[in-house]
Amino acid sequence: DKGGFKHYMLKEIYEQPAATQAAFHDRIQDGLVNENVFGEQAAKIFDQVKQIQIIACGTSYHAGMIAKYWMEGLAGIPCHVEVASEYRYRPVVIQQGTLFISISQSGETADTLAALRDVQDQILASLTICNVPGSSLVRESDLHLMTNAGPEIGVASTKAFTTQLVALLLTTLVIGRRFSLTQEKEREIVNALQQLPSLIEQSIAMDAEIEEMSQAFAEKHHSLFLGRGTLYPVAMEGALKLKEISYIHAEAYPAGELKHGPLALVDKDMPVVTVAPRNDMLDKLKANLQEVSARGGELFVFAGCTQNLQSAEGVHVLGMPEIPEILEPIVYTVPLQLLSYHVAVLKGTDVDQPRNLAKSVTVE
Ligand code: F6R
Repeated sequence: DKGGFKHYMLKEIYEQPAATQAAFHDRIQDGLVNENVFGEQAAKIFDQVKQIQIIACGTSYHAGMIAKYWMEGLAGIPCHVEVASEYRYRPVVIQQGTLFISISQSGETADTLAALRDVQDQILASLTICNVPGSSLVRESDLHLMTNAGPEIGVASTKAFTTQLVALLLTTLVIGRRFSLTQEKEREIVNALQQLPSLIEQSIAMDAEIEEMSQAFAEKHHSLFLGRGTLYPVAMEGALKLKEISYIHAEAYPAGELKHGPLALVDKDMPVVTVAPRNDMLDKLKANLQEVSARGGELFVFAGCTQNLQSAEGVHVLGMPEIPEILEPIVYTVPLQLLSYHVAVLKGTDVDQPRNLAKSVTVE
């Protein structure tokens, strides 16, 4: 049942305020994360963690990339992240005290499951962040944290991703306690989380504006997505969404890499999308962006502080609400989902069932 929406994907984008809420609200107790929700053995296992290895595919891999910024940046937990299909086929060095975290909407992705099975006897323990109760990854992992997104029907992952991010943030907090994360900081982040559903609501409210913007993409064959820090994986996720459902070639780069090559591609036929929440980053990006607009390139900037970045010839600025820094990657994902959705609708593709793709990749 599409609940009155034209596509499951749009319905699932609109479900994100409630879905992200379901991903955290039962897990908070007295302003802190209740670590028992990870499983009976959780405390004992977390006490022994020395580093983390995250494994996933596709959109779930992008969630893992963001988690790495959080694990290392917020809590000083050494963290590696790799796509499952690479990790499982190369000789790997697994250090003592490694917590193996798999991230998967379906819990059945063949490469992710194989990676876990291969390392079982070399790791401290396994934790899966998963949306499907009783799935293979949940059954075969020592600990699990369900994302509580509810069934996701659209092949392009939307609410599964934002709820994975919430679950990974909770995971960062409980393991971070054993590293450099203070209780004060944890309270601050838990507090910020309470604002997440309404911030996502506010991004969804930009839908009409984004739909209008999508017209600039419908006739294009290529596009670039830029972001820095945790917004770099968000740019990757935005590019993946556009590729999957609109079949427009989209590439994501860390903003600082633009001048190291891809700038050469930019002209009037190559729209550039940037997610640029804060001033510090905006200043650096602006210099890059000016070079692009000088080549007739069209820029679409999702910006947090619009005061020194104005729409001009070839530069389109969409102002985002004020967002606590920790929540930026979650909230900035939403307008990119809407953008790819509207581009695909304009192009008349099969949004919920893109060609060549399956919802659950249970074979290699
Ligand atoms: C993209 C998408 C895929 C999946 C990937 C992993 O929109 O849905 O890239 O993210 O196939 O699937 P799960 O998360 O089920 O392991």
